[in-house]
Amino acid sequence: MSLDLFDEDDLQQPTRIEQFSTQAFVLRGFALPWVEALLTALERVLHESPFRHMQTPGGFTMSARLSSCGALGWTSSAQGYRYSPVDPLSGMPWPAIPQALLDLAHSAAATAGFEHFVPDACLINAYAPGAKMSLHQDKNERAYTAPIVSISLGLPAMFQFGGFERSDPVQRLSLFHGDVVVWGGVDRLRYHGILPIKPGTHSLLGEQRINITLRKAG
Ligand code: SIN
Ligand code: FE2
Repeated sequence: MSLDLFDEDDLQQPTRIEQFSTQAFVLRGFALPWVEALLTALERVLHESPFRHMQTPGGFTMSARLSSCGALGWTSSAQGYRYSPVDPLSGMPWPAIPQALLDLAHSAAATAGFEHFVPDACLINAYAPGAKMSLHQDKNERAYTAPIVSISLGLPAMFQFGGFERSDPVQRLSLFHGDVVVWGGVDRLRYHGILPIKPGTHSLLGEQRINITLRKAG
């Protein structure tokens, strides 16, 4: 007798949760069920607020291109880093955070032990092969009580997660399409970054990695 109790969706593997610090987790493949909705939503956001290269206060050009959505968007210029309610390119408010992203972020945060996460800022980074993000702390947000929820799409990346000084030793974690990293609480202000993306082609996203981080900035 064959038991046909499950349809295909029920056979999905549960998320594999990797804890890499006290309050820092990788949720492997957590975003996969949302990918189609995310890509459709991203297309709308990027139509209104396209990717652009930003300058650092030190006069360098960031290698990843950036955009934002939400009540607050992150910008960098010779004047410094800041969150702004207006996209300086269009002079208009940033597009709203798509519902699929809010749902995913809320659910990922709860899975990592951070209940009631309601982000108001969402940064979108596009990395071409060779692009990187140097070690930095996420500290332009007004309070550090909320976690950072970070979604990886497209080409893989090597994520570095360090200490509270730039020179502290780092852990390295490979991040793949669909992985979600959540860190907060005692780990909220740790230095982190992305090593240069290796050349490659992803079946859905081509020659790029997209990273989406959701934050409570205001
Ligand atoms: C960031 O730290 O803002 C981006 C991290 C990533 O691209 O995974
Ligand atoms: Fe960051």
